[in-house]
Amino acid sequence: MRLFLDTANLAHIRHGVELGVVTGVTTNPSLVSKEGKVDYKALVKEICAIVPGPVSTEVLSLESGGMVAEAREIVTWAENIAVKIPATAEGLKATSALSRDRIPVNMTLCFSLNQAILAAEAGAAYVSPFVGRLDDIGEDGMRLVVDIVDYLSYYNLPTQVIAASIRHSAHCLSAAKAGAHIATIPYGVLLQMFEHPLTDIGVRRFAEDWNKVMGSGGILPTQ
Ligand code: G3P
Repeated sequence: MRLFLDTANLAHIRHGVELGVVTGVTTNPSLVSKEGKVDYKALVKEICAIVPGPVSTEVLSLESGGMVAEAREIVTWAENIAVKIPATAEGLKATSALSRDRIPVNMTLCFSLNQAILAAEAGAAYVSPFVGRLDDIGEDGMRLVVDIVDYLSYYNLPTQVIAASIRHSAHCLSAAKAGAHIATIPYGVLLQMFEHPLTDIGVRRFAEDWNKVMGSGGILPTQ
């Protein structure tokens, strides 16, 4: 499972890429707004220059004509952009038109298998089930990821599943077990994924044991 960062924060994106584990980014209007009153195009271009893989960039229009026009503009900003379009009827119409022109679409705000079936039929490159928001209303968000992955693999369809609205590292684990192609995670969850108290205790103990016998000298020859 590939890992994307679900953020528009440049420092967090840089760190994730430096770690060598973040290969894409997903943004949305709420995440971009968290960065203040920014120049949307300039920010997206900067993110695209940092990240090797796709940067999901959302349209703002609610009707298909506007979505298509915005998408065509957005994809001129960088080569590694996927246009994010909501899973509405208007979004579906726009996705079908854009997919015919081979513009990669990430169908977002997906809350049902039916929406995912339609996204795949429309030719979306990605579909993003929102796990946490389904959990918030008492549903089983990860069940939706399982169902979409099963459906796409049964019919051998190329649409990739981005498990989104991930709230904690246990969600990542379940998304991987479900066979999601990608999990898009907040920066805090990325940090949480490799934190373990036994690792910290182990590192400290190794150093103490070594130092007791060998002194504090390291492996590299001293000058
Ligand atoms: O990419 C958007 C999605 O991940 C939203 O997450 O936490 O706002 O439900 P959240």
